[in-house]
Amino acid sequence: METWTIIILGATGNLSRTRLLPTLYEIIKHRDDISFAFIGGAKDQTTITDLIQESITGDKELIETLCRRSSYVQVDFTKPESFNELAKTIIKTEKEQNLSGKRLIYLSLSSQWYCSVTKLLKEYDIVTTSGNHRVIYEKPFGWDSVSAQKIDDCITKLLTEEQIYRIDHYLTKSLITSLLVTRFSNVFFEPVWNNKYIDQVQIILSETEALSTRGDFYDQYGALKDVVQSHLLQLLAYTAMEKPPSFDSHTISNYKSYILKHTKITDGLLGQYKGYKEVDGVEPHSQTETYALLKAEINTPQWKNVPFFIKTGKALDTKTAEIHIVFKPQVPELESKAGPFESNRVIIRISPDSAILLRLNTQKGRALEVLPISMEFCYRCTFGKEQPHSYETLFYEIMRGDKSATVTLQEICHAWQSITQIQNLSLPLYSYQPGSSGPTQANEFANKHGITWDTEATVAKTSKDS
Ligand code: BG6
Repeated sequence: METWTIIILGATGNLSRTRLLPTLYEIIKHRDDISFAFIGGAKDQTTITDLIQESITGDKELIETLCRRSSYVQVDFTKPESFNELAKTIIKTEKEQNLSGKRLIYLSLSSQWYCSVTKLLKEYDIVTTSGNHRVIYEKPFGWDSVSAQKIDDCITKLLTEEQIYRIDHYLTKSLITSLLVTRFSNVFFEPVWNNKYIDQVQIILSETEALSTRGDFYDQYGALKDVVQSHLLQLLAYTAMEKPPSFDSHTISNYKSYILKHTKITDGLLGQYKGYKEVDGVEPHSQTETYALLKAEINTPQWKNVPFFIKTGKALDTKTAEIHIVFKPQVPELESKAGPFESNRVIIRISPDSAILLRLNTQKGRALEVLPISMEFCYRCTFGKEQPHSYETLFYEIMRGDKSATVTLQEICHAWQSITQIQNLSLPLYSYQPGSSGPTQANEFANKHGITWDTEATVAKTSKDS
């Protein structure tokens, strides 16, 4: 049995309450080969029982077990003596629960704290380079490439690279982890994965939820820094990277990094849903975007003249995360006879239900009429179950020392440079109705750039969900 001490700093924040604490519950529920104690730290005054009970719903006995194994320490990140208290609690817990001393320290904090908190963790021996201690840094790592570099200079002086996990939970989602295998192990994808055959690529993260509790965080970051810089540019990099000579995480990172370095955002528009300014923590005159539609170009021979469109937003009409590879029509002879028909498309649906869809054309009867059809591989239907939730996978991987869900500083900095490019474009900000498909001006943008959204695939999915 492996034993761990899991320390979450920022334990009372939204990420911790909605994702991390429920994940600890899932670990207790699913894994009898892992035993852990949990120590939460944050500036708020609360008790461990309140924190756990407010954050987790589930089996009463398991929740009680988690409460018994857990403690809460009030930590003021500006006061070193708080870390003294935290260190004492960790040592006491490890002794009482007979734990191995392996520690996972999750910094669920704004990255402005990463350097000073890492220093204090080191100073109070909460993290030592000799022990089996790993530190997890949530995204966004920094707020531009300069700050990311500075934070990294600081933490790499204090910890070894093996101890540092700069994570992106999107990289644990089943179809992202298998995207490279799907691309490179199926002979009919790779030969056409280039500008000769592909017309455009669309990367979409559409969310129906509006902001509720994290207004103060979100208002400082917005859609660009919250999800484009991390999740969506990672999806772009996985889609566009060339076949690496080996599939180890170091080589894959280098290949992704090359794509991110050659990515340039050239146009776009931003949106803010009506009612956003009333969210708790949001400035009354906020100009923060909750929606972005962007056009990116990748300056490599493989992708010359293939636009990559990135679309994301909160409070939209659909909940989905998808990559669409849209192919060019190839047979003008048939079109001139049968009339225009739909482009072929590969759709990689990451969530809510992982699937790969092929949009193909066929003929129904004997008349020369081209009809679009879909072939679908549904992850859950084929493999019987979905993978564990992202954060559960993330914890298991980090406990194994697996860095698959981490990104390198190089990738992070190139991605920040794309965000700076977007900021330099001074894109217009339009408002949109919650529950709509975004600002109406997005339609003009789509016409201008020849974007062809596949609404049918989304409609088919939505009606299946309901
Ligand atoms: C987080 C963002 O990183 O990812 C959220 O901060 C976003 O704003 C979330 O909603 C989306 O991830 P998932 O796993 O819920 O699809």
